[in-house]
Amino acid sequence: MHEIAQAIDPGVRVVYTDRDASVVAHVRALVADDATTTAFVADAADPPAILDDPVTRGFLDLDRPYAVLLAGVLEHLSDAQDPVRVAACFRERMPSGSYLLACNVLDDDDPRAGALQEALVDRFGSGWFRPWEVHRRYFAGLELVAPGLVYANDWRPDERTSEETPWHTFSCGAVGRKP
Ligand SMILES: C[S@@+](CC[C@H](N)C(=O)[O-])C[C@H]1O[C@@H](n2cnc3c(N)ncnc32)[C@H](O)[C@@H]1O
Repeated sequence: MHEIAQAIDPGVRVVYTDRDASVVAHVRALVADDATTTAFVADAADPPAILDDPVTRGFLDLDRPYAVLLAGVLEHLSDAQDPVRVAACFRERMPSGSYLLACNVLDDDDPRAGALQEALVDRFGSGWFRPWEVHRRYFAGLELVAPGLVYANDWRPDERTSEETPWHTFSCGAVGRKP
């Protein structure tokens, strides 16, 4: 992701977090020569621990607009961890002009999604497919960037986006701007 952002603006600074230390170690190795990108271990269920961590504070100016990307991570938070609360916490802390991206697996009344969720939760302990209404709540109070909340592959597809996939309805996402 940082390569995409920095191809547009080389001054973009990126902080990745993951709860898995081995993922963070891989990211750090990949960005070892990149002074504009870093990573640390954190639990996405605890947004203040991410936003108030000295690494984040030392790397980003959170008083200016920034973007939070919750891609493939809210689906790993249980109902008890409350992904809607997590998204709300990030939204509340962002200054005006900031962006939130959330793209996660979707329960679109496809029985295959239910079967996949069962297999994921059984094998890996997480992977919850949630209905459109829950995804909509991630963006409460934000202005959605066109085309809004849609199946992930319908969000500004380009020549690399598969048009016909059997899993087209398995994930959705949007980008919202804080007014
Ligand atoms: C589907 S991958 C998404 C990776 C990346 N965001 C992307 O879009 O390619 C899920 C990642 O979320 C991490 N993860 C799962 N639960 C988490 C949590 N509670 N806090 C932080 N990271 C978590 C996993 O370790 C895994 O690396």
